[in-house]
Amino acid sequence: MSSSITVHRKFTLGTVDPRLFGGFIEHMGRVVHEGIFEPGHPAADPAGLRQDVLALVRELGTPVTRYPGGNFVSGYNWEDGVGPAKNRPAKLDLAWKALETNTFGTNEFMDWCKHANTTPMMAVNLGTRGPDEARNLLEYCNHPGGSYWSDLRRKHGYEQPHNIKLWCLGNEMDGPWQIGHKTAQEYGRVAAETAKVMKWTDPSIELVACGSSGSHMPTFGAWEDTVLEHTYDHIDYISIHRYYGNPKDETPGYLALSDEMDRFIKNVVAVCDSVGARKKSTKKLMLSFDEWNVWFHSIGQEKNSPEWSVARPLLEDVYTMEDALLVGSMLITLLNNADRVKIGCIAQTVNVIAPIMTRKGGGAWRQTIFSPFSLTSKYGGGEVLRQVVECPRYDAVHTGDALSPGSIVTHLPHTPLLTSASIYNAEPGEVVVFAVNRDLANAQEVRIDLLGFAPGAVIEWQTLHHADLKAVNTEDEERVKPAQAQGATPAAGVVKAVLPAASWNMLRIKVG
Ligand code: AHR
Repeated sequence: MSSSITVHRKFTLGTVDPRLFGGFIEHMGRVVHEGIFEPGHPAADPAGLRQDVLALVRELGTPVTRYPGGNFVSGYNWEDGVGPAKNRPAKLDLAWKALETNTFGTNEFMDWCKHANTTPMMAVNLGTRGPDEARNLLEYCNHPGGSYWSDLRRKHGYEQPHNIKLWCLGNEMDGPWQIGHKTAQEYGRVAAETAKVMKWTDPSIELVACGSSGSHMPTFGAWEDTVLEHTYDHIDYISIHRYYGNPKDETPGYLALSDEMDRFIKNVVAVCDSVGARKKSTKKLMLSFDEWNVWFHSIGQEKNSPEWSVARPLLEDVYTMEDALLVGSMLITLLNNADRVKIGCIAQTVNVIAPIMTRKGGGAWRQTIFSPFSLTSKYGGGEVLRQVVECPRYDAVHTGDALSPGSIVTHLPHTPLLTSASIYNAEPGEVVVFAVNRDLANAQEVRIDLLGFAPGAVIEWQTLHHADLKAVNTEDEERVKPAQAQGATPAAGVVKAVLPAASWNMLRIKVG
């Protein structure tokens, strides 16, 4: 079976914003407690930050990190998490039925960001709270001093402002599960008023309004239309969230879901542009895909996890080889929409549906999805090239959403057996091709035509595949990890490579 990818140096789609490869730290499960923060752990520094986890987060490469939620933020009082730790109240977290000690809060997160080589994306609570608490938090974080909240930060030991530039106006406010769930009208109004006072407090910030929690939501489309009617002139991004799963073990259909993600993005862009046109606006709204991943292995885990306890294990999906293929494909979709999707956050970073796992008092390790993410983050920067892809296709059907097995049937007719993104990075002068062979049984010969370039050597070809699609990594054994492949050689401006069946690949090609 053979396929081809054709690109031309001058046919570019857009520049990749490094924030496309963001992460997410929510106060839930074992993300914070026993994840990034574990005082007394042998690898923890005096502040309780696990250095082994930090090393993996730096390797993962997440230049932006969303915090503190997620559903958690909709019931969070940020004031509980600042000041002397001994004075902070333990509170019930209604989102995840857990006890939050508040021993880790805004300032500890900002310290962690510095160690993790990441910048913050801070969410405000628009569930139980509103504009006033949001602007107070912003004043606490960003105002230099001389006001009540900024002086409180200085009293807490942070003389310099944190200067947090990116803020989310609440989380998933369209979802009935959300604390303080709202209609689109209700949310649109409060988001617009919150945006106004926040930008009056610090005009240098960027704001993200809540879009739909998924393309499957009954209000999808109408929600964006109404929310943007209120907020279009006040915000910079609309959010978009999506999780996929394979509850019925339909792998060909499952691997096609990154094309559903593509459809979802293009539909949100269409609504944004329709509102922009209606408003006769010259502004082009961008997207923040600030929650995405595979989530289904751990459904039901909460039943074995004691309610109202600290760090109750939740959503601890153990990922397989085939999940790594879908995550790699979802990254390809994000790259191919880089003209409109500027921010992406894999949800989440540690322990909860995460590329990194930890054991309390023990080790930290890479899940199967770690390497497609880290390599795409490391080498996926530059200009996205428009591609013409010719390859065999199949009719994909998938039953079951990540969170509601059996209830959603997705049809993706004519799904290409090859999904790919091609990036031109002028400095140091290379074209990087990310490609997934969705064919579970056959290798696929791919011919890459680099028109307008003078292709040189193949710098490296990393491939991720495993004979067992259900193979997983553990603390003791990294069974699924990339390997250097050989045999891709350029000749007469063309690179040919035979991609193994069911494989994720990254080819870095030197170009003149
Ligand atoms: O990432 C886990 C949860 O998924 C988040 O808290 C919420 O925003 C989404 O529903």
